[in-house]
Parts: sequence; C-alpha cells; structure tokens
Amino acid sequence: MIESQIALNSNLSNYFVHIKEASSADLNFEDLFESYKVVVLDGFKISNLDFFKSLPKTSFEEWIPPVFQKELNVKINESHPLWKFYPDRDVILAFQQESVLLVEQVESLIREKMRSYEFSSISCSWRMNAMDKGYLHFDIPEESYENHQVRYFVNLSARPRIIEFGPTLEEFLSLHRDHPRLKEWLQLSHHEFHNRLKYELIKPSGYEDSILPRHYLSLAPGSIWVSNAFSVLHGLVFGEKTVCLEGKIKPQSLNKPEEASFESKMKRLRELYG
Ligand SMILES: [Fe+2]
Repeated sequence: MIESQIALNSNLSNYFVHIKEASSADLNFEDLFESYKVVVLDGFKISNLDFFKSLPKTSFEEWIPPVFQKELNVKINESHPLWKFYPDRDVILAFQQESVLLVEQVESLIREKMRSYEFSSISCSWRMNAMDKGYLHFDIPEESYENHQVRYFVNLSARPRIIEFGPTLEEFLSLHRDHPRLKEWLQLSHHEFHNRLKYELIKPSGYEDSILPRHYLSLAPGSIWVSNAFSVLHGLVFGEKTVCLEGKIKPQSLNKPEEASFESKMKRLRELYG
C-alpha cells in the first residue's frame, strides 16, 4: 500500500492528523473534526477502486464544475454530463453502476466515523478532469447557511493527488488584522464574508501565489482527506480524478456545538477583530 505523505511548513500550525490504518473500528472522527483538524486517511479499502483508476485520463483543463451523482442517471447520449470525459456509452453505463457502489462505501465510512451526527444530507460530486493548477481558497458557505459542512475527498487516480494547504481562517485573519474593512466584512453573512476574503484579499493580488506559506499533501491513490473546508486555505497542485462526499451536519448534533460550530467560530472571530 502506498502511504500519503505530508510536508509540513513550520510557519503554519500543524492541523493534520494522519491515520494510516482506516480499519481501526474504535476510531471516531468527531473530536478531530470539531477541533478543525484535516484528517488524512490511508488504508480504506474501496472494493471497486480499480474501475475508477483505470478510466481514461482527461487532458489538463480549466476548472470544470463537478458532476453530481443525482445528474448521472439520465439517458446516455452526447448531452450526458460524463460524455465530455468519456464519449463511450459502455463506459458511462459502467460508471453509473460503479458510482453507486462507491458512494455506498464512502457514505458508510462517514456514518461509522461520525456516528452521533445528524446529517440533513450527504451529497456526492465527481471531479474527473485532470488539473495541474488550482489556487488557495476557502470553500464558501451557501447563502442560506444553516448546516455544518464536512467533506470527504477520495483520490480515484492511480497517481498521488497533490494538495497545498495554507493558513487557517484564524491565521489568515491575523495576517490581515489591520485591514481597514475587516470589521465591516465580519458583520456580513458567512457567505458574503467568505466572498470578501476571496475577491478582496486572495484573488486580486496573487497574494496566495507569492507570500503565504504552505504545507503539501501527497494523497495516495484510494486515500481520503476530510475537513471543514470553510476554515482552512487549500488548493490543488496536481490531480486527475476525485470524488467528494459532502455531509451537511445539523450543528446541534455536534458533540460541542457551543465551541465547535462554524457559527461559534465566526462569533469568536467577530469578538477578536470586529
Ligand atoms: Fe475547495
């Protein structure tokens, strides 16, 4: 088995937890997740991983929006969302079947490792285009933010997936604590606040490309990383195929909602910088 590897940068906090044996039955992710760790999980056996590894690679492209599992089950023709990746009826037919099996396996992992959480939904999106350039970003909470988010990304390629990680939300705001508009932005909704970070601080200056320190993760084939991606800068360096299962967790079902919910994290940041 190939292990994932993490290259740590001492100028950032180390928020990784690397679990090398996924089958430890007593292993629970809830405390790790509630302390905003990034969990890297090796050794989870996916019975049909070879099917996805063997799919033809696409060329390096611009970012293409993810294809949701619920969009897959439509008539197979040139307008099928997978046609641009696999213009072959038999491949798409097999994908439809194998995807259901893969989702079942990863979803049962999520429910086993986060047993006491109440999920309002677990959705699945496929990202099958090879990419060699991403940019550091925080995921952006929905406009109607209600639920805590956890994302499980599985590397479906035969080659490692290289992901860069930057400062946490706390570390990033600390760098910008003197920004004249930070107070104002902190009063906005989570969605709008994250948009301001993206459009005013991260994207316009190329700041993320030149200055911020990074950790690098080489995620082994079949390995998984788990996080709340609203609160840590992350971006793709190289990757071919991945699937994301996103759980929406009812915040009151967290073990420590008062401390761990994203809402309370934002409240603390408002007290600190607002
Ligand atoms: Fe992201």
